[in-house]
Amino acid sequence: MTDARHHRPVLDPHHSDPDRAPHDHGSHGPVAHGAPPDWQDAYTRAVEAARPEPGRRVVTVTLEAMEVEWEFRPGRATRAWAFNGQIPGPTIEAQVGDVLEIHLTNRLPEPTVIHWHGLRVPAAMDGTDMVQHPVMPGATFTYRYRLPDAGTFWYHPHLNETVQLERGLYGALVVREDDEPRLDAERVLVLDDVQLDRHGQIKPPGWWIESHNGRVGSTRLVNGRREPELGIAAGQVERWRIVNASSARYVRLSIGGRPFRILGTDGGLIDAPFLTSEVLLTPADRVDLAVGPFEEGESLEIESLRYNRGAFGIPRRERFATLRVGPRAPSHVRIPGRLRHIEPLAPGSAEPTREVHLGWKLSRAHGVEFTINREIHHRAAPCVVGELQVWDLVNGSPVDHPFHLHGFFFQVLQVNGDPPPFLSWEDTVNVPARGRVRIAWLPDDRPGEWMYHCHILEHHAAGMMAHFDVVR
Ligand code: C2O
Ligand code: CU
Repeated sequence: MTDARHHRPVLDPHHSDPDRAPHDHGSHGPVAHGAPPDWQDAYTRAVEAARPEPGRRVVTVTLEAMEVEWEFRPGRATRAWAFNGQIPGPTIEAQVGDVLEIHLTNRLPEPTVIHWHGLRVPAAMDGTDMVQHPVMPGATFTYRYRLPDAGTFWYHPHLNETVQLERGLYGALVVREDDEPRLDAERVLVLDDVQLDRHGQIKPPGWWIESHNGRVGSTRLVNGRREPELGIAAGQVERWRIVNASSARYVRLSIGGRPFRILGTDGGLIDAPFLTSEVLLTPADRVDLAVGPFEEGESLEIESLRYNRGAFGIPRRERFATLRVGPRAPSHVRIPGRLRHIEPLAPGSAEPTREVHLGWKLSRAHGVEFTINREIHHRAAPCVVGELQVWDLVNGSPVDHPFHLHGFFFQVLQVNGDPPPFLSWEDTVNVPARGRVRIAWLPDDRPGEWMYHCHILEHHAAGMMAHFDVVR
């Protein structure tokens, strides 16, 4: 089972690890860091409180973060890091109301922790170094929590991210409910990119342009393989759960220019299927699509269309995969016209209760620093359980930032004054360059330490994050 037995006492990693990457978020001087002294009590309470709902079960998963030789393309081995030796790590699948119990063993040469991106877990299980001690090399740690929501989520380390995610440590986490829409097939597509040197090895984090833009690797991956070929049967409609695990790449997804239906986003299903032929996935975004039907013999490019996020360099249209349509198969698709009822949290005109400024500045010590409310590692005012939050995310910089809130879903009320095309639950939203996004969310009864940050890993590492408490 689980308890603190699995957890070896650790040294304070911020003083014991001289090898942290130069741009790691530990490098920015006097910041509020580290788990509170009583973190282990909060952890033990959370472990004990995690019971499956009646009729549900405990799903046990073992994850080993390890070094591996991985072939992004056949015949070319790259030294990578991976969960259970595969990129992406295993897709974790469970039902709403199940308890997930994850035994993580760290076989990396450096500490790690795992964050469950998008899951509404207790603060103690959020997997950041603000709520627990990092898991040291050789140590094992158990996460245990109940799954309250259906949707497409993902997991990734929350330490030295520009190295650990880039090398391949990430995986999808799918939570289903009993009455999901019925499609002919389902697949999970995790998008990523890596920057390889001429020996086929992953480049270490760079400086200057890369710390400004974030890393956009020229090798584009779907489920750990470079520009693969996918197949679909003619006449069928599939559910694609797509995760953008890239460090910095915005994917303006197109499937051969054909229409598809959006069924869900970060926080599960939306009100009603939304017909479109492209969708923007910022880093960390997820989307569930109904794709097809197509005709036998067709071949479609799955690509990212040109998107200008204000970064240096010329945005281009780039391929992620090719979809080939095979022989016809019968279809039994049933997609209801209404997928779910989402109650609006607040009208679009609601007065903001807080402003969050995303910006940057130059510092003598670190070059470009990315800031929240003009500070790196900003410590934001606490939020009170049950008090509606209406936040204006104000981007004072000339580049887009994907804003991510830990632990709670929000609704987007406005983007530059306009309502979004549909109502949804999100945990990541793009804040356009010089733009303003209004969101609403409700601190539910999960007090503790949380954070929000830019999900461009290099911006996060360069300080664009904030910590705050949820209090009763
Ligand atoms: Cu996927 Cu703190 O994030
Ligand atoms: Cu950013």
